[in-house]
Amino acid sequence: MTRKRVLSGIQATADSTHLGNYLGAVRHWVSFQDEHDAFYCIADLHTLTVETDPAVLRRRTLATAAQLLASGIDPDKCTFFLQSHVAQHNQLGWVMECMAGFGEASRMTQFKDKSQKSGSDRTVVGLFTYPMLMAADILLYQADLVPVGEDQRQHLEITRDLAERFNSRYGKTFQIPDGHIVKSGAKIYDLQNPTAKMSKSSSSVAGIVEIMDSPEVNAKKIKSAVTDTGREVKFDEKEKPGISNLLMIHSTLSGKSIETIEKDFEGKGYGDFKTEVAEVVVEFLRPVRQRALELLEDEASLLAILHDGAAKARIVADHTLQATYKNLGLVQ
Ligand code: TYM
Repeated sequence: MTRKRVLSGIQATADSTHLGNYLGAVRHWVSFQDEHDAFYCIADLHTLTVETDPAVLRRRTLATAAQLLASGIDPDKCTFFLQSHVAQHNQLGWVMECMAGFGEASRMTQFKDKSQKSGSDRTVVGLFTYPMLMAADILLYQADLVPVGEDQRQHLEITRDLAERFNSRYGKTFQIPDGHIVKSGAKIYDLQNPTAKMSKSSSSVAGIVEIMDSPEVNAKKIKSAVTDTGREVKFDEKEKPGISNLLMIHSTLSGKSIETIEKDFEGKGYGDFKTEVAEVVVEFLRPVRQRALELLEDEASLLAILHDGAAKARIVADHTLQATYKNLGLVQ
């Protein structure tokens, strides 16, 4: 039986990935590599939608690669590469831009939010066409499954729409991908603002648990997380968003059910609970950070892994691109 194809990606917009990235996406990437034919990319071209100093972009890209490997991504089990190393992403991206309607692209909430924040003069066209490049990332590999957090749901929907539109106009060319969005961990919230998602671009430093922060810093952030004025450790996203977020983080990392954790803290206060959440997070992150720092010391090996991955990815990507061009009537 052929293995199902999985594809996912992450931007390199910060020196550190965060707990939301891990719980919403990367932990699923790791578990898919054993039984699936998995492709994982660092979407460094998407990262260009935010102006970044070249030295910083380079550093962040390699740091992100090291953190993913340290989190368990294994290049012997999956194909791990940089988006910019596989030119077919841009080539299919253009085709997707020609499939997408201006109206449907304008309805993308991430585009609306980000462009509203920076104003139209400072919003680059790449932010508008971002979902079409993301569609190309997915469709090039004929992915069956795309493990992502909740915030990428709409981008997956447009990917499916574009693939269906192309297939019905030009004949079956693309696999229609399904999202893999697991409720537990799909949306981790900002520790200081527990109704907004934990985010590289918009969370305050105190609101985000970074993989590369020291254990002391992360423990302090969790202990200072904003909660409500009550005392009961109970999952209630409306009344207790801060406590619910911490319960979700604990449960997803420790594997204990939310009910069990609630029971463990019956009659105890928020202080004891936060101390335990901090321990769970810190003990989980400690070896990941250590391994990422070690990997970063050997840049040549890191680059070799990424180049090997790109060579494997290009073969699959080019196969799809050629079929797409042929079906479109572009002269071969
Ligand atoms: P990015 O880089 O913002 O995030 C990477 C992954 O982390 C998930 N995530 C979260 N999950 C739970 N809670 C959070 N607070 C949280 N914040 C982020 C995201 O949902 C994502 O799965 N456009 C994508 C990158 C991309 C991609 C792709 C993804 C480019 N091409 C192809 C899948 C397939 C992005 O900006 O993710």
